[in-house]
Amino acid sequence: MALTGLFLITFLVVHAGINSMIWFNDGGETFSNWGHFMGTNLIIRTMEIVLIIGFLVHIIDGLLLWKQNRDARPVKYAYSNPAANSKWYSRSMGLLGTLILIFLVIHTAHFWIPNRLSQGISNWEHGEIDLYGKMVEIFQNPLIVLVYVAGCFSLFWHLLHGFKSAFQSLGLNNVKYNKAIEIAGTAFAIIVPLVFALMPISFYFHLVH
Ligand code: HEM
Repeated sequence: MALTGLFLITFLVVHAGINSMIWFNDGGETFSNWGHFMGTNLIIRTMEIVLIIGFLVHIIDGLLLWKQNRDARPVKYAYSNPAANSKWYSRSMGLLGTLILIFLVIHTAHFWIPNRLSQGISNWEHGEIDLYGKMVEIFQNPLIVLVYVAGCFSLFWHLLHGFKSAFQSLGLNNVKYNKAIEIAGTAFAIIVPLVFALMPISFYFHLVH
């Protein structure tokens, strides 16, 4: 979970970074240049396959972990006070992960799937769809904006727990650095989803066009 999680975190940084080019407010020129590079570069396109595997392994691992926890104690405690013993978001990783998965299905249906279908197996250069134009178009719908902002909110809660957990699972936590890891993890969990959430909002309010 930790290794695939950290890999997915790296993807999020790259994805948020490239998408942030929309705020150049140049009609999507800079964003599209980067999009073109990412969509036609052989190394990046190979990493895409690794990314899909990363997502699948992370989800399957999560489900196995959830089952393991459930089976570990078939008889429930007569008295348990989860609120006192664990944070809400650590108990709800499965729920939040599922919400993110639903968001990802909707999200890939908007951009990735139409783009890949249009590019085909060999027509990378010429088959690309106008991803910027597509963003301008779909983010006029307040319901879609809401789904994206809710997806980013789930991501925020998921990362809030996940980042710290990953260090712990890998044995990289250390009394000396725990505070720093916690601060960095919390900052990351807030900043990245916030940057993402501001994208559909910016299109909706015509702050970028
Ligand atoms: C909220 C603002 C977001 C916007 C405007 C946005 C926009 C885009 C666009 C335009 C693409 C198409 C790239 C392509 O066709 O290759 C894309 C791909 C993708 N996005 Fe997002 N995205 C957002 C948030 C997220 C979040 C929060 C996640 C993950 C939790 C995510 C995961 C993905 C994935 C997995 C792909 C496919 C990557 C690939 O091309 O290999 N996106 N996104």
